Amino acid sequence: MKIKNIIPKERINKHIKEFIQSTKRSPSGHNQAFADPGAYLNAYDDIISKALGKGVKGVSGNYYEHVLPYYPHTDYNSNFDNVYNAAIPLILPETPVGLVVFDQRWENDSALWTMEHSKKFISEFVSSTVDLKEGKPNDYDITNKTNKEIDDALYNNYLHHYRKEDLYGLSGSFFSYEIGDILVFDNKNIHCTSYFEGKKLGLSIRFKIIEEDYG
Ligand SMILES: [Fe+2]
Repeated sequence: MKIKNIIPKERINKHIKEFIQSTKRSPSGHNQAFADPGAYLNAYDDIISKALGKGVKGVSGNYYEHVLPYYPHTDYNSNFDNVYNAAIPLILPETPVGLVVFDQRWENDSALWTMEHSKKFISEFVSSTVDLKEGKPNDYDITNKTNKEIDDALYNNYLHHYRKEDLYGLSGSFFSYEIGDILVFDNKNIHCTSYFEGKKLGLSIRFKIIEEDYG
């Protein structure tokens, strides 16, 4: 789900400044940097709760700057029970970019699939806490497998940086990133960044449900 035009430009600039000035900023691998969202961890609780119709609370999150599309993965963590993600784009690359959210789910704790690469290769680019699954999602016990090739349009427009066979069994939707918007999705659904060129900065916050009915 997309919440359109909700974050004013001044707030976006504050986030960018917080990321740049962060002392906790930690480069992981060569092509990305993380930072703590500090006081903003709970800044969007009300907006997201209203949109979902459920009370939620931000329990973890990070700024994320990268130059390579992030691989298919999930973000659920049973210790935090952080079932929803909010993605807030802050700086967009030169080419259009968004998030592909697949219809297939991984019900266990978060995982990242290495696709055509080995675990060893991918481990250089992701945080050491990520549970790497060698190969493609369809090789694992994910829900809702289609038993066919990925849709041509989805592949050609957004996912052509992968081998088509590594996306076998998946279907999904593309949500473009636009400054001012918040993208909210269930983080057990497998998702990945679409193809892009340039540098991208975003804030990602993960929420747990604290109230089934909100408002
Ligand atoms: Fe994610």
